[in-house]
Amino acid sequence: MKPQDVKQIKESVRQHYADRIKTDESCCSSLTCCPDTKMDSPAEKNGYTKAQISSIPTDAAEHSFGCGNPLEYMDVQEGDVVVDLGSGAGIDVLLASHLVGESGRAIGIDMTPEMIERAQQNAREAGARNVDFRLGEIESMPVEDESVDWIISNCVICLSPDKNKVFEEAYRVLKPGGKLVVSDMVANNMPRWARAAVSAWVSCISGALPEDQYLDSMRQAGFEHVQVLSKSAYAKIRQVEVASVKVEAVKPA
Ligand SMILES: C[S@@+](CC[C@H](N)C(=O)[O-])C[C@H]1O[C@@H](n2cnc3c(N)ncnc32)[C@H](O)[C@@H]1O
Repeated sequence: MKPQDVKQIKESVRQHYADRIKTDESCCSSLTCCPDTKMDSPAEKNGYTKAQISSIPTDAAEHSFGCGNPLEYMDVQEGDVVVDLGSGAGIDVLLASHLVGESGRAIGIDMTPEMIERAQQNAREAGARNVDFRLGEIESMPVEDESVDWIISNCVICLSPDKNKVFEEAYRVLKPGGKLVVSDMVANNMPRWARAAVSAWVSCISGALPEDQYLDSMRQAGFEHVQVLSKSAYAKIRQVEVASVKVEAVKPA
C-alpha cells in the first residue's frame, strides 16, 4: 500500500470513530456492528454477559464497537498487565481492570483523542485506578518491550493498513509466554476494487483479511499455537463473506 493511502485510511478511521463517539452512536456503522434487534444492546450482541455489562459504567457498555468478547476465554490473573489495542470507550479495559486487581494494570491504546477522553471519563466514573489510556497507534505502541502478560483487541486490527506491523509490535511488548487474544473480522472473496473503498474500510469490511492470511501474519511475527477459538458469520455483502473470529496466539517462553 502506498504511504499516501495508509495516511488517508488512518485519517478516515480516526475521523469516523471521533464522529461516532461525539454523536453518541453505539455501533460502528450500518454495515456492521449494529444490533439486529432493538432488544439487544451492542454489548449483549457482542457476547458480554449481563454481569459484565452491569459491572461497568453504562456509557462504556453502550459504546461497545467490537465484534466479540475477547475476555471470554481468558485466564487473566491478579497482578497481570493487559493491553487493549484500539480501546475505544474503554469497555474491555474496564472489564480487565476487575480481573487484574489493584496489583495489576489494564492499559488501552487508541489513536482517536475523542475515544481516549471518553474512556478516561468512564474510568473516572468506575473509580478504576489501575487503568491507563494512552493516545497512540497500534503499529508503534507506546509500551515498553516485554512488559505485558496479555494483549487483547476487539474489532480493530482489521482497520489497520499494516497488520504485519501490529503483530510485530504485539510480539515486542509481550513477555515471553504472554498471550494475544483478539476478536476481529476476516473476509473472503474481497474484490480488489473493494479494498480501496474507504467507507467500507472504516466499517471493518474492506480492511479485513482472509482468515489464513490473518493467521499467517501472526505466525510470521513469531507467534506460536495460533488457533481460532470461535468463528461466526457476520455479514454477506454480494460475494464478500465477512466473519467475526476469536483468535489466540502465544509468544514462545
Ligand atoms: C471498531 S472500534 C472498537 C473499539 C473497542 N475495541 C470496542 O470494542 O468498543 C475501533 C477503535 O480502534 C481505534 N483504532 C483504529 N485503528 C487504530 C490504530 N491503527 N491505532 C490505534 N487505534 C486505532 C479507533 O480509534 C476506534 O476507537
